[in-house]
Amino acid sequence: MIFMNIVLLGAPGSGKGTQGKRASEEFGLAYISTGDLLREAVKKGTPLGVKAKSYMESGGLVPDDLVVGLIKEKARGLQKGFLLDGFPRNILQAKMLDEITKIDLAINLQVDEDEVIQRLGKRRTCQKCNAVYHLENKPPKKTGVCDVCEGELILRTDDTESVIRERLRVYKEKTLPLTEFYEKRGIIKNIKGQGDINEVYSRIASVIRSHKE
Ligand code: AP5
Repeated sequence: MIFMNIVLLGAPGSGKGTQGKRASEEFGLAYISTGDLLREAVKKGTPLGVKAKSYMESGGLVPDDLVVGLIKEKARGLQKGFLLDGFPRNILQAKMLDEITKIDLAINLQVDEDEVIQRLGKRRTCQKCNAVYHLENKPPKKTGVCDVCEGELILRTDDTESVIRERLRVYKEKTLPLTEFYEKRGIIKNIKGQGDINEVYSRIASVIRSHKE
């Protein structure tokens, strides 16, 4: 277990969820995904979910105050470091995060746009436990059924081609500038996110290990 706060950056479909969950387990970090938390809120129909739903379905960003509130709630009283997947999403969120805690490392997963579109169209997500699959690159043992909890695997409502393109547009406009933000602090590591899933993981794990030494 290490005490380190990490933000995982990268385009939609770059592998943040796939790699972030595994790295959190190996390094004993709390895994916090704003996308998962927001989808859970939408599913339960909470006041937050009701407000977030239309932004998520159209590929836009949920208003900053709603998402920052979520992060504050999750970070409060944490006794270990965390890995943030999907937050911050813009410069304002990054500044708000600085007010909550110190970030030690930003990992930026780099993947070509064509690859991202291919990945997301064939992604399937467990409705119950959020485990992520891919019809070709990471298929479940039984078609349509989660290996972990036997929940139903679905295509996310924002994984249609037009919404994927909007998410990519928003990513380039709002999120990509964060790479420069963390570069100026000297804490960003760019990692090639293409290739075998295990190989990409090895690159991430070695960056985390060398950072903590
Ligand atoms: P969020 O859930 O964060 O979505 P995202 O950033 O678009 O990222 P994804 O979850 O689509 O992809 P990923 O990078 O995790 O890739 P994955 O590992 O699944 O956010 C959704 C929405 O919520 C946003 O659009 C916004 O509306 C809202 N939101 C969230 N956070 C917010 C915030 N901070 N502020 C405001 N709004 C916010 O992999 C993708 C696929 O590829 C999978 O099928 C996987 O199996 C496969 N794959 C992974 N790695 C590889 C590999 N190396 N080779 C081949 N296939 C691979």
